[in-house]
Amino acid sequence: MASTRRHLAAAAFAPLLFAQQAVAGLYPGLSNLNHTCSLVDPILSCSSGASDPSAVDTCCTETFGGLVLATQFWNTYTGFESQGQVLPKDAWTLHGLWPDFCNGSYTQYCDLTRQYDPLPAPNTTTGTPEGTPVPAWRGPDIGTFLGPLGKLDLLAWMNKYWVAQPDWLNGDFWGHEFSKHATCYSTFDVECYGPQYHEHEEVADFFETTAAFYRRLPTWSWLEASGVRPSNVTTFSLSDFAGPLTQAFGAVPYIGCSGSKFNATDAGKGSTDAGNTVVNEIWYYYHVNGHVQRQEGIAVDADIAGGRLTNCAQTPGALHYYERTAGSEV
Ligand SMILES: *[C@@H]1O[C@H](CO)[C@@H](O)[C@H](O)[C@H]1NC(C)=O
Ligand SMILES: *[C@@H]1O[C@H](CO)[C@@H](O)[C@H](O)[C@H]1NC(C)=O
Ligand SMILES: *[C@@H]1O[C@H](CO)[C@@H](O)[C@H](O)[C@H]1NC(C)=O
Ligand SMILES: *[C@@H]1O[C@H](CO)[C@@H](O)[C@H](O)[C@H]1NC(C)=O
Ligand SMILES: *[C@@H]1O[C@H](CO)[C@@H](O)[C@H](O)[C@H]1NC(C)=O
Repeated sequence: MASTRRHLAAAAFAPLLFAQQAVAGLYPGLSNLNHTCSLVDPILSCSSGASDPSAVDTCCTETFGGLVLATQFWNTYTGFESQGQVLPKDAWTLHGLWPDFCNGSYTQYCDLTRQYDPLPAPNTTTGTPEGTPVPAWRGPDIGTFLGPLGKLDLLAWMNKYWVAQPDWLNGDFWGHEFSKHATCYSTFDVECYGPQYHEHEEVADFFETTAAFYRRLPTWSWLEASGVRPSNVTTFSLSDFAGPLTQAFGAVPYIGCSGSKFNATDAGKGSTDAGNTVVNEIWYYYHVNGHVQRQEGIAVDADIAGGRLTNCAQTPGALHYYERTAGSEV
């Protein structure tokens, strides 16, 4: 989601890369042979050994976006409850697995031949009128790619845990996550899958990898173990979230809030705290050892590349962690 990532400087986009890369994989001319990653000692992303794409196998080492963010949502409804799109009880939902550059900036829609997002946001590769337009996908939603690959179990799991933010359909949201973000990993390029590549194989691989990271990050339970449960009567402090999650994850995550700014609320009148007041996102940051598909993340602090740790209000008791709407949670 572009809208939740305002804290990252738009100036950090790298427009010079797009002319070539927006229309093909990240490394044009890459052979589809000899990417047997188990024969290669895994190289840690963002380390000096990963910095030169011509010196490593880009299918086995993350050479493009090596700062990996496993992101989750806390929403209270979906807007499509009547169609069975509901939220999982006692769990935050999966947002995505994003490949930021090692310096904390990021790019998006890196391969327009794999553009399956019906609602591109932004609508150009750079987010400016000068960028390459990202055409809306008009085909069947990306979830339909999984049946022919024999992955209906994955699709069912995704419908349960990878639930879109309010008023988006899940399948549209997955297409957004794949095309905006997954195409910017060096290791999901189609050449990495060899000469017998099946159409959309890397889509399923990305979804599986993303699910694997998510499954190791039980945010709801980590909070609950510290007595932090959603409530529509109590308010919370930032430390109620930052403390337990940092302890459990092993590094400081980013905590995101939406909703009113604290000093625009009655409780915050006269305050200079302009942080938002409704907790709704957690971003866990990693470097990864070898390709992200190996699922070996090394937890790193969310400000490792200089970004902020939160946009939430920091006044004690300023935050809401709302209960889900009756009927939205199953
Ligand atoms: C961040 O890294 C990317 C990829 O190496 C580069 O294109 C971009 O210019 C860098 N941004 C800044 C602000 O240094
Ligand atoms: C793949 O590896 C084999 C065995 O080392 C080698 O003979 C061949 O040239 C390689 N092909 C490419 C495209 O790298
Ligand atoms: C992108 O969106 C902006 C704002 O809605 C609009 O003015 C512009 O024409 C769009 N550009 C493309 C390439 O669709
Ligand atoms: C809220 O705080 C910000 C920054 O401290 C300040 O610029 C803004 O004017 C304040 N807003 C209100 C409504 O007091
Ligand atoms: C709790 O409050 C949120 C935000 O106002 C609302 O969306 C939700 O429906 C409420 N949940 C319950 C169980 O009242």
